[in-house]
Amino acid sequence: MNELIKKLVEAYGPSGFEDQMRDLIRPEIELLVDELWVDAMGNLIGLKKGKGNGRKVMVAAHMDEIGVMVSHITEDGFLRFTNIGGVFPHTLLGGRVQFADGSLGIIYSDRLDNWSTIHPLEKHYIDVGASSREDCPVSVGDAAGFVRPLAINGSRLTAKSMDDRIGCVVEIEAMKRLQESPHDIYWVFSVQEEVGTRGAQAAAQAIDPEVAIAIDITPAADIPEAGPMAVVGIGKGTAIKVKDTGMIAHAGLVRLMKQRAAEAGIPYQLEVLNRGSTDARAMQIANAGSIAGCISIPTRYAHSQSETVDIADVEASINLLVEILSKPIEL
Ligand code: CO
Ligand code: ZN
Repeated sequence: MNELIKKLVEAYGPSGFEDQMRDLIRPEIELLVDELWVDAMGNLIGLKKGKGNGRKVMVAAHMDEIGVMVSHITEDGFLRFTNIGGVFPHTLLGGRVQFADGSLGIIYSDRLDNWSTIHPLEKHYIDVGASSREDCPVSVGDAAGFVRPLAINGSRLTAKSMDDRIGCVVEIEAMKRLQESPHDIYWVFSVQEEVGTRGAQAAAQAIDPEVAIAIDITPAADIPEAGPMAVVGIGKGTAIKVKDTGMIAHAGLVRLMKQRAAEAGIPYQLEVLNRGSTDARAMQIANAGSIAGCISIPTRYAHSQSETVDIADVEASINLLVEILSKPIEL
């Protein structure tokens, strides 16, 4: 599984530019589904028909990652940029980015008079090694993602886009391990989550699921001065979402998730998050609504270039998803 994790977390794919990710995931799943298609927005959707009269279930993990987009090129070849999703200035100085064609850039900021402050995003720039606007290898409108190789430190894995490539891994592994299910399962690898769950919204409108489960990361709070906002820790189990700022998970589905985890001896935590939301929100309120929930992988340093998870939590998340989908969902 580490090989798959490495492949996905190091890949390029800011929101709206997920084609390289889609090309990596497609061969992993095409033999595991009955039908496979890509919708107009770029969501990759695989349908595996159930054996029995189960429910219509949609599972979604997002392929996109946060990143930057070139908004202006200076005369001497430096790039000014805007954010794609939640990119914070204090995570940027000295960071590296890559464009779709592999072009590399270094992020720095205009001179700081006071080193305990930080400039806003618009006073940062990317250096791609050009010396003039004319010899610049990229254009206005080109998007870049961050660059960091996967680091493995015991049970902990660190990468620039665990959010949500690790969710994609959980989904792929669950597809591989799920022997039989009574449910028609729509396995969705969604686009544009980081800019407002846009891909999952379109996919849910079309699929119209009865039950919807997102797989995403959630910020871990077992770090110094984390504040009371997040409650989960890494290495302590998968997280069953109860509430975030965009949704209240279906109480019956939360109950079922807890019960299945307890029965199978899967370690879990309950997540109440005061910042952010996931594809589950979009799926919950699409059309006439669905029974929606979310399995979260606790992650330290979310939306930095060193998002860190524990492999035991990844395993627990896969196991819980398989437990839920392999049996009837009666609420
Ligand atoms: Co995110
Ligand atoms: Zn995410």
